[in-house]
Amino acid sequence: MVTVLGIAGSPRKNGNTDMLLAEFTRGAASKGAVTKTVFLRDLQLSTCQHCDACLKAGICKIKDDMQGIYVDFQQADVIVLASPVQFTGVTAQMKAMIDRTQSLWAKKYVLKMPPLGDKRERKGFFISVGGRKVANLFDPMLVMIKTFFHIIDVKYAGELLFSGIDEKGAIAKHPDALKQAFEAGQRLAGGNGQQSQGGN
Ligand SMILES: Cc1cc2nc3c(=O)[nH]c(=O)nc-3n(C[C@H](O)[C@H](O)[C@H](O)COP(=O)(O)O)c2cc1C
Repeated sequence: MVTVLGIAGSPRKNGNTDMLLAEFTRGAASKGAVTKTVFLRDLQLSTCQHCDACLKAGICKIKDDMQGIYVDFQQADVIVLASPVQFTGVTAQMKAMIDRTQSLWAKKYVLKMPPLGDKRERKGFFISVGGRKVANLFDPMLVMIKTFFHIIDVKYAGELLFSGIDEKGAIAKHPDALKQAFEAGQRLAGGNGQQSQGGN
């Protein structure tokens, strides 16, 4: 059975990325996947302190809600990050979580261990929306997200990106964004490694 982990990075409850992520996990569940969504805004997440403690054993010494996310990553077959664009990057909540995976970087590159504890294939997917309708809106985020998945040995499997979506709930007025998210969830839960790109 495929386990799908959604990481919701928006500070706005029930906003556009929350809605897309919910459709993605609903699509995955319709194919029999076990799904879990973590809402970063509800968690206590410290920023990385660059104390370098993780270089010794690959374990972050900050004992907060990130400890649960490390376990969630290990258990997941599919990891879906959802974040709106904020100042051309991911949200502060999402960036804090990504920086805390420095301990996984240490596991892989310093300690030469699998960052997520084993070598089974995991897939990563990215969902984003931005208020502005400009070319290359998502390029800076994509560099970071692809780098993140690469570092934790998760195979990048595509994205859904929607520009010109600003008001809370505006994504529901898009002709088929929610449908695209549902179908992407179905595809990723289906176990094929197919690349999936979509949006706008
Ligand atoms: C602090 C902040 C910064 C933002 N920066 C950008 C930006 O750089 N580019 C953009 O297109 N939209 C920007 N937006 C707009 C959001 O991406 C947009 O409202 C989005 O629909 C919010 O998604 P959500 O409902 O999932 O939170 C910003 C919004 C906030 C609150």
